[in-house]
Amino acid sequence: MRILDACCGSRLFWFDKDNEYTTYMDKRRETFEIHGKKINVQPDVVADFRDMPFPDNTYDLIVFDPPHLKWAGPNSIMKAQYGQLDKDTWPADILQGMTECMRVLKPNGVLIFKWNENQVKLKEVLQAIEPFRPLFGNRRSETHWLVFNKQKKPTSSANEVS
Ligand SMILES: C[S@@+](CC[C@H](N)C(=O)[O-])C[C@H]1O[C@@H](n2cnc3c(N)ncnc32)[C@H](O)[C@@H]1O
Repeated sequence: MRILDACCGSRLFWFDKDNEYTTYMDKRRETFEIHGKKINVQPDVVADFRDMPFPDNTYDLIVFDPPHLKWAGPNSIMKAQYGQLDKDTWPADILQGMTECMRVLKPNGVLIFKWNENQVKLKEVLQAIEPFRPLFGNRRSETHWLVFNKQKKPTSSANEVS
């Protein structure tokens, strides 16, 4: 099983922050303190999700949790922890990130996309990443976990009973 966390940050959402099957990636490597809070971003691979240094069809499972804030105080904990979207290019950036995730995902692999809609609504980000469409996910809370897959067309109908 090979897993990629394409935007690992401080690995806050991980129960096991050193999962042995996972490659942790982020565009930065840094440790510092801000307003008494320690920020510790130590990826295995420093790279841009828009141009990943991995071959096609590498990972079984990918989690993609890009920045979701268009506005954040320059010295805020939020910006230090989660990064910030470019207010002009974010739709193209996230689409390129999804395209790269799908390229490095194995056929039939699963991609989990996390999005907090405090500043950019889910509808807007789903429009930005078309033609990728989630299979399912939670719609009601502010933070969404959406499930995508890289479909390999079955030779016969998936609903056929043999
Ligand atoms: C929402 S945070 C991820 C939080 C993380 N999932 C956690 O549990 O702590 C987004 C992360 O994406 C990183 N990031 C922003 N732009 C990126 C890019 N182009 N390529 C890779 N990582 C990027 C930021 O440095 C930040 O750590």
